[in-house]
Amino acid sequence: MRAMKNIVILISGRGSNMEAIVRAAEAERWPARIAVIISNRTDAPGLQFAAAHAIPTAVVVNQDYSSRAAFDAALQSTIDSFSPDLVVLAGFMRILTEPFVAHYAGRILNIHPSLLPNFPGLATHRQALAAGVSEHGATVHFVTAELDHGPVVLQAKIPVLPDDTEQSLAARVLLQEHIIYPRAVGMFIKGSLASQQEQLRTNAGGSRSDHIKKDFA
Ligand code: GRF
Repeated sequence: MRAMKNIVILISGRGSNMEAIVRAAEAERWPARIAVIISNRTDAPGLQFAAAHAIPTAVVVNQDYSSRAAFDAALQSTIDSFSPDLVVLAGFMRILTEPFVAHYAGRILNIHPSLLPNFPGLATHRQALAAGVSEHGATVHFVTAELDHGPVVLQAKIPVLPDDTEQSLAARVLLQEHIIYPRAVGMFIKGSLASQQEQLRTNAGGSRSDHIKKDFA
């Protein structure tokens, strides 16, 4: 394993979580480099921050591909050209195919703005207000084939206040995201998530090792 780990960050828009991770990597001197910021939109504002920080950028536009599988294949080859140890989804608004997710089993993280398993999918703050929950928050999790369902790494909770709106909740949750996402990525880089990673890799290769076991039975 290389001493310096390569982190690849995927964004679709503002990129404030990406920014928090870049700043933490610098401030805490992680043994890691942000190898590239990849966006599926040419106009993602986060690309400007990356360029200003001399971080390489790449754009793979989903509309340029005729299918989800073709887009994911192109995205995968772009990511892999940077030899990633970790892929970080930071507001990357695309649903990923199963082969793509399996390829990165145990080395791909996402942040979701809710206390999973509550409120997977979109409009999480609206969902939280409609459900009348007293607590809301954010979750960093490993990515698996089922959307917003992978093993949880870290969660942050905030109270839902009587006069909260979607916007006020989103703003307070985002502040927590900027704390827990860099923390979770730092844990990954330092090796604290190794057993979870190993389990996910084993699960992803499950069918193959079943065959091997049968062959030797
Ligand atoms: C965040 O709330 C993230 O949880 C969600 O999309 C938003 C992205 O924000 N998936 P940013 O691009 O990181 O600023």
